[in-house]
Amino acid sequence: MKFIGFFDNFEKLFFCMKTVLITGSNRGIGYEIARQLGNQRFLVYLTARDKGKGEYAMMHLRGLGIECRFVQLDVSDVKSIEAAYHIISKCTDRLDVLVNNAGIMPQTGSILDIRPKALREVFDTNTFGPLHMVQVFLPMLKEGSRVINISSGLGKLSSQFSDYSPAYGMSKTALNTVTLRLAHALKGKGIAVNSVCPGWVQTDMGGPNAQRTVDKGADTAVWLATEAPAELTGKFFRDRQETVF
Ligand SMILES: NC(=O)c1ccc[n+]([C@@H]2O[C@H](COP(=O)([O-])OP(=O)(O)OC[C@H]3O[C@@H](n4cnc5c(N)ncnc54)[C@H](OP(=O)(O)O)[C@@H]3O)[C@@H](O)[C@H]2O)c1
Repeated sequence: MKFIGFFDNFEKLFFCMKTVLITGSNRGIGYEIARQLGNQRFLVYLTARDKGKGEYAMMHLRGLGIECRFVQLDVSDVKSIEAAYHIISKCTDRLDVLVNNAGIMPQTGSILDIRPKALREVFDTNTFGPLHMVQVFLPMLKEGSRVINISSGLGKLSSQFSDYSPAYGMSKTALNTVTLRLAHALKGKGIAVNSVCPGWVQTDMGGPNAQRTVDKGADTAVWLATEAPAELTGKFFRDRQETVF
């Protein structure tokens, strides 16, 4: 048994484990994506803005036999993204998958009342964060790498004819624009960039009445990270199917 354990670890260390970095992966959909990809033998860079929460989540994944490293990362702070890049670049020169999952949905009131500070906070996390992540981690994104932006149905243009969670909805619409422009800019390098709507999911954000389990909510992102054809780029997916922006 000892030898089997040794060779298993040896293989994990030296025979091309794929790498994934997931933002906001200490809980919710991000944690579940980390768990599912870890079970598919990815080496997981679990990131979180809070060190204690991130280390706790990492220990849980390691307890499940998943190869996991924790790096502190606040996506709304470019210096924090650069610091994380500095640390991770010492361990690997390639990210096979980058999942921009971190997101916030604060109650900001009607479109007629949103305060500038609240609007900026939502965009800093949900829209500019994913863009800065790609800009900073670009040296590690190589041919065949996949960037997955966790968007929302509330980001669809058709959803904008509503006053439900306007700051969040607008930030996800803008995130989809980021997806399209990055997909165009990175197509020549063979890097795919897509948006995903996970559906309404039972997490702290989605609440207990949401229709989907976290397992189902993570499914399309995990599919895009693994089985989906590599040439799919610049698209918006829900339930593994292309959907309109
Ligand atoms: N749940 C749904 O029904 C639903 C539907 C559509 C789309 N989504 C999207 O799916 C993604 C994950 O949502 P979820 O339901 O899993 O939400 P969640 O349970 O609230 O988890 C959000 C995660 O993002 C992290 N985060 C927030 N701001 C951050 C920042 N500045 N830097 C780094 N991490 C940050 C949180 O960290 P802390 O623990 O430190 O707060 C947490 O780990 C989000 O992008 C969300 O918009 C969710």
